[in-house]
Amino acid sequence: MCMVIFAPLFAVCAFATCGGYSGQIMVKVECMDKTQRNISISFGYPFRLQQVHFSVPICEGKRYETLFLEGDYASSAQFFVTVSVLAFLYSLLATVVYIFYQNKYREKNRGPLVDCLVTVIFSCLWLVSSIAWAKTLSGVKTATDVSLIQMLMSACRDEENLCETLEEPTWTNLNVSVAFGFLNFSLWAGNIWFAYKETGLHKSGQRYPSRTPSEKRSGSFRQYSQSSFDQSGTGFGQRLYSQPSFDLSGGGLSLLQTSLGQPNVYRQMGSPTSRGPLIFVNESQ
Ligand SMILES: *[C@@H]1O[C@H](CO)[C@@H](O)[C@H](O)[C@H]1NC(C)=O
Repeated sequence: MCMVIFAPLFAVCAFATCGGYSGQIMVKVECMDKTQRNISISFGYPFRLQQVHFSVPICEGKRYETLFLEGDYASSAQFFVTVSVLAFLYSLLATVVYIFYQNKYREKNRGPLVDCLVTVIFSCLWLVSSIAWAKTLSGVKTATDVSLIQMLMSACRDEENLCETLEEPTWTNLNVSVAFGFLNFSLWAGNIWFAYKETGLHKSGQRYPSRTPSEKRSGSFRQYSQSSFDQSGTGFGQRLYSQPSFDLSGGGLSLLQTSLGQPNVYRQMGSPTSRGPLIFVNESQ
């Protein structure tokens, strides 16, 4: 139930805060001759900063220079968003299958097994992508540092000109997306246990060892008791007809004992053996 509500919701929060981001930087450049210009730099997902360019007056005549930001952070940002979207789609699909196709889901235990496996995979993906994205975000922050951008502008390197930062990017959304990445990881990782319980593997693992020995024991018990009765029958017959004496009856008993060789069988034969001497006593007298 927890997964049904929170897994899609948190996945949406993760990719919406990251994929929908756009940052804005505004720097005012005021040259010696009092001509001023506001330079606006905007960037956003997927953070291919090497493609973000802007033109800045160089305060020599009316000339401008075109500058680029540095760094390509697309791979981990896109990886993070892809994982979020796939997790969102999977959690929706799993909910639909679980509710509307309960029979198909239970069939041959395939549904729970697949669900458990996919949950493990998504936990790993969330962890890896969140770590990668957190590392990338710190890279994006340094690459878009306003004082660093001002150092890129030749007008601002000249101290006779005045440069002022009017707007800095807000990182709240991206920080939240990283937090949601790790939150999603803990949600999916915590759900591994419940997905594993659904497969029923832990139950069958306990059931089989306790069941088979008792079945074997009862089976062997039945065999032994049958054979012991048969042999005891023939043993008594031989003893009664051929050698009617106490010594040999003792030997007969020991023979019985060795041929069967099972103490627990002897216990089972308690009644026939006790009957044996009774018959002998009658015959000898
Ligand atoms: C630059 O921005 C500031 C503050 O937003 C504004 O007062 C100023 O007029 C702008 N200058 C130009 C040249 O657009």
